[in-house]
Amino acid sequence: MEAPTLDNTEAFEKDLQFALEIAARAPSSHNVQPWSLARARTEPAGVIAKLVLGLDRERCLEALPQAHELEMHLSCGAYLESLVTGLAARGWRTEVSVADAAREALPDPMEPLATVRVTGTVDESARQEAAQRCVTAKERKTHRGPYEAGPVPPGLAGAVSGPRTFAFPAVTDEPTHAVAWQLLESREAIQTAADFVGRHASIEFTHAGNWAETYRCLRFYDTEAMEDGMPIANLLGPIPGWQRPVLQAVLAPMAMRGLGRLGLARSLAGQFGERVGEASALLYGFMPSHESDLDTRLVAGAQMFVVWLTLTSRGLSLHPISVVLQHDELRADFQRQLDLPAGRGFFFARVGYCSDRVDPAPRRKPDAQALIRI
Ligand SMILES: Cc1cc2nc3c(=O)[nH]c(=O)nc-3n(C[C@H](O)[C@H](O)[C@H](O)COP(=O)(O)O)c2cc1C
Repeated sequence: MEAPTLDNTEAFEKDLQFALEIAARAPSSHNVQPWSLARARTEPAGVIAKLVLGLDRERCLEALPQAHELEMHLSCGAYLESLVTGLAARGWRTEVSVADAAREALPDPMEPLATVRVTGTVDESARQEAAQRCVTAKERKTHRGPYEAGPVPPGLAGAVSGPRTFAFPAVTDEPTHAVAWQLLESREAIQTAADFVGRHASIEFTHAGNWAETYRCLRFYDTEAMEDGMPIANLLGPIPGWQRPVLQAVLAPMAMRGLGRLGLARSLAGQFGERVGEASALLYGFMPSHESDLDTRLVAGAQMFVVWLTLTSRGLSLHPISVVLQHDELRADFQRQLDLPAGRGFFFARVGYCSDRVDPAPRRKPDAQALIRI
């Protein structure tokens, strides 16, 4: 592949489309894809393009204000990392700034989060590393089905503990660093988490506002036009056509209010707990401080994406279980029972081997020509 040069800005347009396609596949809470991207009409000298990542307020989850705000920022961090990795895979070096974004004006309802300046080229080894990550990014999925027994490969805990991102290359795994990752492999920890999820995950269904919002993100019928949300088969496995309207009715917020109290919520939580018990390991991401700024949240999201790719590249599946972190008291209890370090847990997932074939969740179609111009 011919290395891009600063004069070769025409190639950039095609490469941007490639990067947008990688970024479109970034994971996001409930697959709401809360990001937007704008492009500056004019570039300062030495900058090939300036992109501004924004949070699209109309796409955000908000039933659990603090927890969902954090999840939206994590999702945007994952998007940012995928975008920058896609550009690096095509040879382009970028500089990301969260501070500069505050000076940008985006059309309503977008809030600027970070600027991405394309400033030059990366070296060949970085390009190859990014290209490999892009291959893995296309395979990455959330696997919610049953997991098969088997230990994770040796050395995995080390591999996930200090993820290096392309978006924030200056952030390392030094102690000053505001984000940390742990892999829990002991049977005892996995069983404690399984019991906890089985006992407490019912709140996912009984918290009326939260369930109503989640329900709006469920997709009971597959259509061509679907571009976000969670297809029901991705959550529950293959579902015959006739069962879909039944599920749609049973899970509807009004029905859930009654059925939830009659034991449906407890039974669903119990199934969740059993699934956690099948895990080969648990992944836990936390911020040592309870107060996190936007910078830290985007770094956390970028690292989450890299860790997910690390697991995918080793044949492992991942299923985030955010309910245990979304409610302050529940999270504190969870951290205590699992003897987790103090701080704000922001990501919890079961990790293991899943042979279920899962279709990719739907995405908005990226188009470099149609980016918002500012
Ligand atoms: C911050 C965050 C939290 C998530 N929490 C959950 C969760 O609690 N339960 C779940 O099933 N999936 C969870 N997911 C996975 C998303 O639903 C998933 O990424 C999205 O539907 C797109 O599907 P894909 O990962 O297969 O591409 C989470 C993802 C992110 C980024």
